Amino acid sequence: MKRRHFIKTVAVAGAATATGALRTRLNAAQSVADTEIVLHPQAATTTISPLIYGHFIEHLGGVIYDGIWVGKDSKIPNSNGIRQQFIDDLKAIGAPTIRWPGGCFADGYHWRDGIGPAEKRPRTYNYWQQNTPQEVRGLETNQFGTHEFMELCKLTGAEPYVAGNVGSGTVKEFHDWVNYCNAPAGTLSLADERVANGDREPFNIKYWGIGNESWGCGGDMTPAEYAQHYRQYVSQFPTYLPPFLIATGPRGHSSDYDTGWTRGFFEDMQGRKSRVDGLSLHFYTDFRLTNFKAATFSPAEWYSVLLKGANIEKALLDNWDVMTKYDPSHHTKFIVDEWGNWYPPGEEIEPGFTISQPITLRDALHTALTFDIFNRHADKIAMANVAQTINCLHSLFHAHADKFVRTPVYYVFKMYQPHMNGRLVPMDIGGASQNVTAVEGTAKMPLVYGSASVKEAGALAVTLTNPSLDSAISVRLRIEGANASEVQGQVLTHDDRQATNTFATPDVVSLAPLSATVDGQFVRVTIPKQAVVSLSVRLS
Ligand code: AHR
Repeated sequence: MKRRHFIKTVAVAGAATATGALRTRLNAAQSVADTEIVLHPQAATTTISPLIYGHFIEHLGGVIYDGIWVGKDSKIPNSNGIRQQFIDDLKAIGAPTIRWPGGCFADGYHWRDGIGPAEKRPRTYNYWQQNTPQEVRGLETNQFGTHEFMELCKLTGAEPYVAGNVGSGTVKEFHDWVNYCNAPAGTLSLADERVANGDREPFNIKYWGIGNESWGCGGDMTPAEYAQHYRQYVSQFPTYLPPFLIATGPRGHSSDYDTGWTRGFFEDMQGRKSRVDGLSLHFYTDFRLTNFKAATFSPAEWYSVLLKGANIEKALLDNWDVMTKYDPSHHTKFIVDEWGNWYPPGEEIEPGFTISQPITLRDALHTALTFDIFNRHADKIAMANVAQTINCLHSLFHAHADKFVRTPVYYVFKMYQPHMNGRLVPMDIGGASQNVTAVEGTAKMPLVYGSASVKEAGALAVTLTNPSLDSAISVRLRIEGANASEVQGQVLTHDDRQATNTFATPDVVSLAPLSATVDGQFVRVTIPKQAVVSLSVRLS
C-alpha cells in the first residue's frame, strides 16, 4: 500500500518543502504536514455501542444540586425540578445513558432516604461533604432521589445505570431497591410503594453496578474480598428483565493499569456461577499530584495531557489480556464508567463545587482522542460514562443559578454522535508520528488521531484530531472500494490553546463548518492546528 507523509512550509517567502520521512518538529506557524489515511468501509466490523457516549452524575459539589436539580418552584426553566437547558442539551447529543448516584457517594447512599414526600426526606451525610465548607453547601437533602433520577432519564431518553451500595449497605437493601424499581405494580409491597410515590410503571432498570471503586472509597477491599461480596449481591438478584450486572474493576490510571485487581477478582470468581456482564474500569488522566492547572498551561503541558490521556488504550488492552485468560469468549465487557481529566484543586468554578474545574480546548482534544480509542475498541467496551457531565471534572456543562454554558467538551460529543450505532471502519492511519516536547521530555505523538464508522445507508462518519500546536495537517482520505459523492465538515478549534467558554463569553469555542472536497475515492481536508474535525461522507 502506497502511503505518503510530507511536510511543507507554506506562505513563507522562499518556502522550503521537506518530503519523505516526517520531520520531528515544525517551526513555522504556517507549516502544513500532509498525510494519507486509508479507510476500508467494506471491511466494517463491530457496531459501536451508543452507550460509549454515556454520562455520569453524582451527588457531589454542584453536580446534582444547582447543576441539574433546581427544584420545582424555581424561576429557572425546569421540567419537574430538572434544569430545562440540561435536558435539552443532553437530548441534542442523544445522551444514551446516565450513571447515578456515584461514584464514592454510591457506597454511602441509602435509597430509602430519597423517596417519598420531599419535605419528609431526611438530611443525611454525603461522603463528599467533608470536602465542602459547611456554610456553602450543606448535607445531602435527598431532594433528588430515585424518582427524580428516573424522571431525568425519561426526559432525556437516556438509559438508567444505577450503582448500588456495597461499602456501607447490605444485600437486602440492594435487592429491595431493585424490587422497588422493577417489580410490576400490584405484585410486591415494594412495587405498591413505588406506585404510591408516583410511578405506576416499573422503571425497568437493566444496568446495575455492584458498588464503586471497592478497592478505595467503596470499601477498601482486596479483589478476593470484593469477589465474595459481588457473588452475594448478584446470586439472588431479583430479575424482572435480563439485568446487566457490573463488577468493580481496576483503577486503570494506576502506573501498572491495576491489572492485579482484574486478575485477583477473576481468579476468585473461578468455578463460581455468578455472572459478570460488565467490568467497570476507571481511567482518570490524573494530574492531581502535579502543579498542572486546568485553565492555564504551557505547550509542554498541552502535550502531556494528551499523551497521558491516550494511555487509556494501554489500560484497556492490558486488562483485556488478563480477562482473556479467565473468559476467553469475552462475555464480560468493559464499562468505562468514569473517565476524564483531573487537575489539582484550586480552580473550582464556584465556591462549594467540589472537584470542578475550567474546561479548555485541551480537554476537547483529549475527549476526541479518547472517543477514537473507544471506537477502535468497540468490541471490548459496552458502555463509557464521562466524569462528570456537569459542574465537575471533565464536564460538558457549567451551571450556577440561572447561568448555563456549554464547555468545549460538549461540542466533541456532538461531533461524535454519528458514530453511535455505526459499524467500525478499519482506518489505516499510518505510522506517521511527530516529536513533541512534553513536560516529561521529548515524546513521539501520532500526527493525527482518528476513527471512522459507517451506517447501512452509506453514511461514513470520520473524526480526526490534529494535536499539533504548530502545524495544520492536510489529509487525503482514500476510501477503498467506494467513491465519495458528498462531504460535509465541521471543526472545533481556536487560535488560543487555552480557549474556554464562560458564562459571560459562552461561544468562544464552538463548532464551525470546514470545507472538504470529494474526488472519486478521495476526500481532502485540511485540519487546522489544535483542532478536532468531523466529516460526514456520502458513499456511492
Ligand atoms: O468522579 C469523582 C470521583 O472519582 C468518584 O466519586 C469516584 O468514583 C472517583 O474516584
